[in-house]
Amino acid sequence: MDFPKTVTIKEVGPRDGLQNEKQFIQTEDKIEWINLLSETGLSYIEITSFVNPKWIPQLVDAIEVSKSIIRKKDITYAALVPNERGLQRALEVNIDEVSVFMSASETHNRKNINKSISETFPVLKLVINEAIASGKKVRGYVSTVFGCPYEGKVSTDAVLSVSEQLFSLGIYELSLGDTIGVANPKQVEDVLTEVLKRFPSEKIAMHFHNTSGTALANVLVALNLGITNFDSALGGLGGCPYAPGASGNLATDDLHYMLNSMGIDTGIKRKQLIQAALFIEEKLGNPLSSYTMRKERREN
Ligand code: HMG
Ligand code: MG
Repeated sequence: MDFPKTVTIKEVGPRDGLQNEKQFIQTEDKIEWINLLSETGLSYIEITSFVNPKWIPQLVDAIEVSKSIIRKKDITYAALVPNERGLQRALEVNIDEVSVFMSASETHNRKNINKSISETFPVLKLVINEAIASGKKVRGYVSTVFGCPYEGKVSTDAVLSVSEQLFSLGIYELSLGDTIGVANPKQVEDVLTEVLKRFPSEKIAMHFHNTSGTALANVLVALNLGITNFDSALGGLGGCPYAPGASGNLATDDLHYMLNSMGIDTGIKRKQLIQAALFIEEKLGNPLSSYTMRKERREN
């Protein structure tokens, strides 16, 4: 296999992780956690989402969190934005980067953002144009790439079609989401082979959830195909509340362990990463599911 020398890990825990937690993490704890994450060597943190708080009450404090964290110059602080109202709120706090999102399957798209796929593009077009005009980079997510909780199998053509349209609207990078964590390494190879015929590997990121325990195996296949951007959430937090069965993201600490021990540089400092995980574990009051944190609990 052929592996890169460096990989960028994009931490989505404060957004994808906390959006799926039953309890509300206090605003000051979110702020402190993000500040701890900023000390780990991560270069990218998705800190919240500017969605309708009636849909995601866990992140109702997006404005306060974004305004109050201590921002480091060399870190990109990003947030999810579904529409113009969300963009206004994100611009109000001068978020560094905006992420738009939609699904490759109709039913999940409708359940998640209350629109059909074709109704979503004009909304995202406005968001992307306005964000770029305001000097922001825009990242895109496609969800349900490897399977939909409502429709089951999702065709690669559907994924390619949504991806092409998002790139044509101006996103600089596309993150392919295994929303419910059903992907297997062979499927990742098949889908990525088609995706990489159309888009360069530098513009593609992978966003695995670890519901079935296949996330790290999937990372290995993606690495071998030249992907160097991966999303993950510290401790294995995460999931989409509008995707039944979706569980935690690939854990940043486990991903870091694997990459680091393979000699692949991520710039992340392990000790600080574990400190940040211990902090949020205590605030949640539940053990984090990552292998790293299980080991940590056994040893300490
Ligand atoms: P809607 O209810 O159809 O919105 O929601 P609407 O445009 O009809 O507006 C209804 C009300 O909401 C209005 O208020 C709006 O102002 C307000 P009212 O006039 O009734 O007082 N509103 C907002 N308020 C604050 N911020 C906003 C906003 N937008 C409308 N941005 C909408 C449509 C898209 C907003 C809603 O469906 C929504 O917020 N969905 C987000 C769901 C979500 O966050 N899901 C999880 C993230 S995606 C994910 O996890 C997958 C990912 O990780 C990748 C993967 O794993 O695959 C990214
Ligand atoms: Mg996700």
